[in-house]
Amino acid sequence: MQVLAPTTAEDFRQYYELRWKVLRAPWDQPRGSERDALDDTSSHLMLVDAGRTLLGVGRLHFNTIREAQIRYMAIDIPCQRKGLGSILLSALENRACELGAAMIVLDARESALGFYHKHGYLACGSGHVLFNRIAHLQMLKALDNPAQGK
Ligand SMILES: CC(C)(COP(=O)(O)OP(=O)(O)OC[C@H]1O[C@@H](n2cnc3c(N)ncnc32)[C@H](O)[C@@H]1OP(=O)(O)O)[C@@H](O)C(=O)NCCC(=O)NCCS
Repeated sequence: MQVLAPTTAEDFRQYYELRWKVLRAPWDQPRGSERDALDDTSSHLMLVDAGRTLLGVGRLHFNTIREAQIRYMAIDIPCQRKGLGSILLSALENRACELGAAMIVLDARESALGFYHKHGYLACGSGHVLFNRIAHLQMLKALDNPAQGK
């Protein structure tokens, strides 16, 4: 098991395919709906097994130089609730620290609140409702970041 940054065209094809499969296909959303304008300038991480099969994806972008945001966290459906999301989230947090973040914000689906709460994220406001169906809550985690202020 390892966390990597996608680099090749095939990496990115699989990366976006998994994002779509977990976060868009169950709501009948078309391919392409899983991407946004910030993808080109964001940090992407993928979790792969020993045979390099893709198991999970997640993205990090910055809203300000100190505030990072995680979006599009997705673990492949048969692999959920086995600790993989925790590995990926930890890697995204480490990456945010390396890039100088003091805090991470995210919009959590209500169904994933328990996951983020377990990892120290606190609800800080109501978020958007996706596809008129998926309610989100804004969550925040302050980072104890030795790189901050350098
Ligand atoms: C949310 C998600 C990324 C979590 O990854 P995961 O690999 O399933 O989570 P982990 O196994 O690392 O979870 C660790 C702990 O978080 C908590 N947790 C995980 N998913 C949870 C959920 N849906 N509801 C409540 N608590 C949850 C549990 O305490 C879990 O420990 P346990 O399994 O021993 O009870 C993953 O389930 C997923 O991709 N879900 C569908 C897409 C999604 O909702 N993405 C987030 C969008 S904001």
